Amino acid sequence: MNYNIAVIPGDGIGPEVVAETLKVLDKVGDKFNHKFNYTQVLAGGAAIDETGECLPSETVNICKNSDAVLLGAVGGPKWDALPGEQRPERALLGIRKALGLYANLRPAMVFDELADASPLKPEIIAGGLDIVVVRELTGGIYFGEKGHKDTPMGPAAYDVEEYSEGEVKRIAKVAFDMAMKRGKKVTSVDKANVLESSRLWRRVVAEVAADYPDVTLDNLYVDNASMQLVRNPKQFDVIVTSNMFGDILSDEASQITGSIGMLPSASLADGNFGMYEPVHGSAPDIAGTGQANPIATILSAAMMLRYTFGLMDEAASIENAVHKFLKNGYRTADLCGDAKESVTTIKAGDLIAAEI
Ligand code: NAD
Ligand code: IPM
Ligand code: MN
Repeated sequence: MNYNIAVIPGDGIGPEVVAETLKVLDKVGDKFNHKFNYTQVLAGGAAIDETGECLPSETVNICKNSDAVLLGAVGGPKWDALPGEQRPERALLGIRKALGLYANLRPAMVFDELADASPLKPEIIAGGLDIVVVRELTGGIYFGEKGHKDTPMGPAAYDVEEYSEGEVKRIAKVAFDMAMKRGKKVTSVDKANVLESSRLWRRVVAEVAADYPDVTLDNLYVDNASMQLVRNPKQFDVIVTSNMFGDILSDEASQITGSIGMLPSASLADGNFGMYEPVHGSAPDIAGTGQANPIATILSAAMMLRYTFGLMDEAASIENAVHKFLKNGYRTADLCGDAKESVTTIKAGDLIAAEI
């Protein structure tokens, strides 16, 4: 089969981790007799430098006409002084909105081999950890009304958090459907003791829960949830939450696994279409040094094979290759204690591709 993938390398370590991921995908194509066709497109800082705008319309069109999108990361200090609407990050939000990618799945797993890389005590993560953050991705404070106004305390800026019943219902369904295939537990995270939008969120999630009698629903306030994530992360199966809370909690969850360089994500629309991106950013502090861990992006490609293309064995072949790489004792710099030797981004890509 032929699959057309729009590829957005982006900025910083984005192009570095994407290059290793394409290497792995090509290997999967050879082994399973598929052809992955890549169309590289510009977004973020790279697009600003090349075209003057962070999200050229051609990029959106190519993404829309592809079977799936793979993205590295966007942003960096070079573009930080630009006004909000022109920043590289704005491109990411624009693509998510334009493609209707409202459901962001962010699985966090502790690989046995990496138990020592987790900052948590061994007994807290003993026996492994497997949680998924289901993050609402096209609503909430990221997309609400924003602006500036004068106040008695001086000029002010505001961003409005707003959720409709329909937006909450569809993301809640994604979370419950996912829980049905896993541990049958959903934890909805909100701030319903303070926020009106969270009270609506909590009510609608409870209504959706009524259609899933086999799934247990827990509600936690976000401050408690962030504390519980490090106190006892194994109590979680599926966490469903708003755009901003999901952004924050998934970075926190990533650290439990040893490194944010390990965390993949799928951003899904209705149907099978999706954009696949690591949870991490462009890591300007290590860009160009060969220290970037490509595993988050490589595992995002596995999610692409599974969720958009329905290629289960092919997806598993990537995950197994990553396991073998780790089992063989290889580590990128982010997973190494000072004493251990690390492999570079390129070497990691080579070794993982060789295991396919
Ligand atoms: P970041 O995720 O880029 O980096 C945070 C820390 O994690 C850094 O120390 C970095 O070196 C490390 N890190 C991240 N990915 C790594 C990897 N694959 N391997 C090894 N170490 C890794 O977050 P930040 O520093 O807050 O943001 C940097 C830029 O990235 C900003 O411009 C931000 O807006 C952007 N960003 C983009 C995305 C995205 O495109 N999806 C996501 C987050 C941040
Ligand atoms: C992420 C990033 C983005 C977000 C930024 C770069 C817009 O942090 O994908 O986690 O907040 O969604
Ligand atoms: Mn983030």
